[in-house]
Amino acid sequence: MPEVKFVNEKVTVDVPAGSNLRKEARKAGVQVYWGPHKIFHCPGLGMCGSCNVEVTKGEENLKKPGLWERLSIMLFRPDLFLARETEKKNSLRLSCQTKVTGNCEIKTHPDVNMNGEKFWG
Ligand code: FES
Repeated sequence: MPEVKFVNEKVTVDVPAGSNLRKEARKAGVQVYWGPHKIFHCPGLGMCGSCNVEVTKGEENLKKPGLWERLSIMLFRPDLFLARETEKKNSLRLSCQTKVTGNCEIKTHPDVNMNGEKFWG
């Protein structure tokens, strides 16, 4: 069984291969939402963009982002979209759209720098 480590919360859980990252986080008591999105969020359909996480290790052990996840990030989270483009941070994911296939480390509530390092310079 793949092992998922939530870095900020210092929680490690074993999950079935192919399981949904958001569901497993919630089962483990890990909050993936921030601020008002703790209450107001979509039911894990990739329609609000508020369940974003950063994969700090084991990105290759997660199913690659599908068309809906990429479209959703572009539509609902332009800050994430810009961060992914400018910083080449493909490790920023929507947890509700992420399937776990192997060991990984996840950072909830990641800092997002949508300007990139060289935007002003
Ligand atoms: S829960 Fe709404 S996009 Fe993931």
